[in-house]
This record gives sequence, structure tokens and C-alpha cells, in this order.
Amino acid sequence: MSGNVRPESMQRITTLELANAFIDEQIKEIRAQVGDGKVLLALSGGVDSSVVAALLIKAIGKQLTCVHVNHGLMRKGESEQVIEVFGKQLDANLVYVDATDRFLDLLAGVSEPEKKRKIIGAEFIKVFDEEAAKLNGIGFLAQGTIYPDILESDGVKAHHNVGGLPEDMQFELVEPVKLLYKDEVRVVGDALGLPHGMVYRQPFPGPGLGVRCLGAITRDRLHALREADAILREEFDKNGLAGKVWQYFIAVPDMKSVGVKDGKRYEGWPAIIRAVNTMDAMTATVENIPFELLQHITERITHEVDGINRVLYDLTPKPIGTIEWE
Ligand code: XMP
Repeated sequence: MSGNVRPESMQRITTLELANAFIDEQIKEIRAQVGDGKVLLALSGGVDSSVVAALLIKAIGKQLTCVHVNHGLMRKGESEQVIEVFGKQLDANLVYVDATDRFLDLLAGVSEPEKKRKIIGAEFIKVFDEEAAKLNGIGFLAQGTIYPDILESDGVKAHHNVGGLPEDMQFELVEPVKLLYKDEVRVVGDALGLPHGMVYRQPFPGPGLGVRCLGAITRDRLHALREADAILREEFDKNGLAGKVWQYFIAVPDMKSVGVKDGKRYEGWPAIIRAVNTMDAMTATVENIPFELLQHITERITHEVDGINRVLYDLTPKPIGTIEWE
């Protein structure tokens, strides 16, 4: 553990200049550690793994292989962005695995939240393991560990992390941002030229939309959730809330209510909006969203998303409500 203690003397990375100095230093360290070896990285598209990927691409180019597992529970456009940024713009060695069917088949009929999480976590490891086994000569595993992960490794977050890897993997770890806080990782991401939306992405749970498609996941309800969530994100972006609200999303419960559409009875699911602010996710307050904006979002979701016939706003702080619904 002592090697992981952040020295008091370490300067916080707050400017582009400091970030560039950090990048130069890390490039040297990565090259010294890895030599001409090959490195593997599970690239989720989240801030931490994206920054590590971009750093490693700069340092060792094609010696890095990134594996992006699409578990079918990503938000709209996220896997596409990983392919666009890393596969195309940065020309990385990117293995893209669309494992949607595997995950959704396993999850069919499973309604218990912790069981869903376990299935998603275990299957993620399995898919990643299979891909790793196809690659030859990998000696190193890169990870987007950040300093709070080390501090909290005995705490709540440990069981949250999807993408934890099997213990029998015989790789040496490469963890270039392990002494940084999240805001520092973001400054480094900016300096590396990653897209703003990727660098300032709101926290997104490892099991993804799986814990927001409440109860047993079905493909049609998951699709409705993804579309409604994309509308919420678009409207928050347009109305200046994206950078202001800590976490916001839609949850869709496994229940229907009666409604009317085009003069006919229309049974549909409700879309529940959650928008909260917090410092540490232990407690959270609800954002005061202008009523007109809520009405506009309701109008859009109920008209544009098949299967949704009501929109609700969750007014519950944490405690007593958790941020996620399951
Ligand atoms: P709760 O719902 O416990 O959420 O108030 C607190 C924060 O943790 C995130 N969260 C998760 N993150 N895997 C994760 O990686 C999970 O299973 C998980 N469950 C909740 C949640 O999005 C919020 O930011």
C-alpha cells in the first residue's frame, strides 16, 4: 500500500501546462516499464479508462490493445463514440465486442437487482477473458485506477466495480493515473485532446442501463429507456444543465398504466427522471429543474419514444432514496 500513497509534495494538476508535464513524464515511465511488451486495456469509454488509453496510445501506439465490451447496457451512442475516437481518430488497436445478446439472454427473467449486477459483472469478466486469450504475448494489463479507488478499495465502491478482472491473470499492471483525483484526470484528458463529452461525462454505473431498466430487463423496454435517456441528456445539454447537475438519467419500471394516444387507449411504461447533486454520492439533493423544461422533456419523451406514456420526476433526496432505483 505504501507505494500507493500520494506524496504530500505532489502538485495538483489544475492547468494545461501541468497536465502536459504529467503526460510527458508518464510517457517516459510507461515506455520504461513496458519496453517492447504488449499491453491490454479494458476500455469502457468512461473518463478514467479513456484517459489511460489515450496516454498509452501516445506512449506505445500499437503495443496497446484496447478491448471494448458492449454489454448492450450502454447509453445511446457510447460504444459508437469509443469506436469513432479510439478506432478511427486515434487509430488504436481496438477490439470491439458486441456481446449484447449474451448479456440480455442471461438477464432474461432475472428481476433481483443484486443478481442482475452479479450476472453483468461475471459475464463481463468472461467476455474480456475470452478476448484476452485470443491475443498472443500480452505481458501487461493497463487499468484506469484513480486515487479515490485506492482510498476506497475496502469500502462501498469495491463491489460496484464491473470490470474487475480475474485474479489468475498473470499480467503486470500499468496504472498511470493511480495517484490522480478525478478532476485531475479530466484536465489530463483535455490536454490529450479527448472530446469534451467523454472527459466530462457524468458518472455511469458499471452495470449501465441494466440497473435502470427496473426488474427483469426486456429488449423493448431497454430500448425505450435508452431513447428517453438520450432525450433527457440532449435537453440538459441544450439548456446548460449538463455541466451543472452531477448525475441525471431515466429509469423505467416494469409496470404499465393506461393512457390515450391518437384517440385510442395506449398502455405504456412511465419514464422516471432522476437529477441529483452530490459531493461524494453518499448523500444527494434533487436539482431544481425549471417546470417549463420538465414539461418540454415530457412532451418530447411521450411523443418520440414508443412505449412510454407518462413522465415522472423523482423528488426524493438521498437519504432516503438512493441515487439509482435498484
Ligand atoms: P446509489 O444508488 O447507491 O448510487 O445512491 C451512488 C453512486 O454509485 C453509482 N452506482 C454504481 N456504480 N456499479 C457502479 O459502478 C454499481 O453497481 C452501482 N450502483 C450505483 C450510482 O450511479 C451513483 O453514482
